[in-house]
Amino acid sequence: MAAGALQGQVAFITGAGSGLGAAFARRLARDGAQVVVTDIDGEAAERVAADVGGESAVLDVTDAAAFDRAVDDAADRHGRLDIMVNNAGIGPPSDDASRARFATTVANQMRRMEGRYDDLAPVDGFVSVSDEQWDRMIRVHLYGTFHGIRAALRHMTPRRSGAIVSISSIMGLRPGAGIPDYSAAKAGIIALTKSAAAEVAQLGIRVNAVCPGFVDTPLLAPMDADQLAMVRMQIPAGRFARAEEIAELVRFLCGPESSYSHGDVYPASGGWV
Ligand SMILES: NC(=O)c1ccc[n+]([C@@H]2O[C@H](COP(=O)([O-])OP(=O)(O)OC[C@H]3O[C@@H](n4cnc5c(N)ncnc54)[C@H](O)[C@@H]3O)[C@@H](O)[C@H]2O)c1
Repeated sequence: MAAGALQGQVAFITGAGSGLGAAFARRLARDGAQVVVTDIDGEAAERVAADVGGESAVLDVTDAAAFDRAVDDAADRHGRLDIMVNNAGIGPPSDDASRARFATTVANQMRRMEGRYDDLAPVDGFVSVSDEQWDRMIRVHLYGTFHGIRAALRHMTPRRSGAIVSISSIMGLRPGAGIPDYSAAKAGIIALTKSAAAEVAQLGIRVNAVCPGFVDTPLLAPMDADQLAMVRMQIPAGRFARAEEIAELVRFLCGPESSYSHGDVYPASGGWV
């Protein structure tokens, strides 16, 4: 790996077997970081780790004890932990109720465009999200990010250095109809970020969040062509982001260039927010 600004640094990334996390792994490795690629899908993590010359581990971020063990292992092996990227996430399930909510949201947008305000239909997000779905969404995103920040700080605090970046969403800033679980989980990540930064900024540890707009990754796979077109129409940039574009922002927040960023929240939304 070529020498770069992150040479000698150890980066731990969750959900890095696919999409954004894999792009973050590639970007940080390109600047010399030794990347620990983790994912609930061990084979996917292995493939990305092989690609970036890093190491892989199976990790379900909802498992607090497993998270601590994985971070301790990595920090013990390398003698340090410099970067934590809390990225693992899930989209709304592709079940019938979820599809119906999204279809209603899209249909309502059409009706608004046509000025048919009297015809707007109830989205019913709150009454149709199951307890299981609510619980899973909060566990993966909010508990997962809390576990990651806590595990990282146990190693970064004694060394008084480190960078933590958590992946929220534009839905955390401007919550959408029909996805109360995802919106609340992503907004919670912003609050966790600011709370952690208020605690450790004076130690020189930087904790920040990124709020991507719609990014072309497997997370969007449950959306059909009409739904994608309707979303795209609302993005001022007129297109979805590429994972590599978001990776540039994450790279900035992991490196010395962002030395005055503490508890800051960075949208990359194509103009959405
Ligand atoms: N794609 C978008 O449009 C978009 C927009 C804003 C925010 N995000 C966020 O970006 C992050 C990455 O999403 P992506 O678009 O790359 O999706 P993706 O589906 O391509 O990747 C998500 C990865 O997380 C892993 N994962 C899921 N649950 C896990 C768990 N419990 N523990 C560990 N790993 C787990 C999956 O196996 C997968 O490899 C998510 O937090 C997502 O909410 C995505």
